[in-house]
Amino acid sequence: MNKLEINHLTKSFGDHLVIKDLSFSIADGEFVSILGPSGSGKSTLFHLIGGISHPDSGDIYVDGEKVNGKRGSISYTPQSPSLLPWRTILNNVLLGQEIVGKGKVDKKKALRMIERAGLKGYENKYPHELSGGMKQRVSFIRSLLSPQSIICLDEPFSALDEFTRLEMQKWLLSVWSEYKRSILFVTHSIEEAIFLSDRIIVLSTKPATVKKEFTIPFGRPRNEDILLTEEFLQWKKSIYYELAGQRDRSLVPK
Ligand SMILES: Nc1ncnc2c1ncn2[C@@H]1O[C@H](COP(=O)(O)OP(=O)(O)OP(=O)(O)O)[C@@H](O)[C@H]1O
Ligand SMILES: [Mg+2]
Repeated sequence: MNKLEINHLTKSFGDHLVIKDLSFSIADGEFVSILGPSGSGKSTLFHLIGGISHPDSGDIYVDGEKVNGKRGSISYTPQSPSLLPWRTILNNVLLGQEIVGKGKVDKKKALRMIERAGLKGYENKYPHELSGGMKQRVSFIRSLLSPQSIICLDEPFSALDEFTRLEMQKWLLSVWSEYKRSILFVTHSIEEAIFLSDRIIVLSTKPATVKKEFTIPFGRPRNEDILLTEEFLQWKKSIYYELAGQRDRSLVPK
């Protein structure tokens, strides 16, 4: 059974059709990225999966159960980190466990993750004392610590500099291989999507529908050595042309 199944999903805002007949699925433990132009409906898709909004038609299944408009079946890191300003970093990180786990929290694990994300010493600070990138990391750890088995991450690394970003990507891969959750990941970086994913879904825009799927064959565990290989560059080119061709066919070589 698929962990997540999106069946013929359609969503409009007024007469603006944003998502049209979108279908795809994610297997248990799979890492899938979504690439699509800005405004193509990626965050809207996450809101639908998270039950924050309701589809006009089509269905969403988590573990075979229909979850249209139902909250709490996935853990979701929104595009802008939503930390509670009156809670310390540690207590922000523990929030997902508190809500879903009925008060059961694993403080030791949280502290270990905070340390692995390079935030040791910030456990008892408050969100306003952190940089944007640090806040994003906190929001992301909260997602990883939540008990749901599907994690939806909306551009979690977009505010980080290139080196911190690579460190966080490697950290995410190591945590993922340890905890084996299914991940749906939104990014604008082709390189990041290839480095992390088992599969990449390229969305078309206005309205969003699946344009193409790529299965990424690099073995695991992965490290940054693959970023400079010829094979990696070939994948980058194919996906770049797929995205660029949506804007301007002349960008794609004949
Ligand atoms: N609540 C809303 N009401 C009306 N229109 C909305 C609403 N939410 C999103 N939209 C519209 O839906 C479209 C898709 O927005 P969405 O935020 O899903 O795009 P995105 O793919 O996440 O973009 P980005 O890559 O820039 O984050 C946009 O045109 C946006 O204006
Ligand atoms: Mg978005």
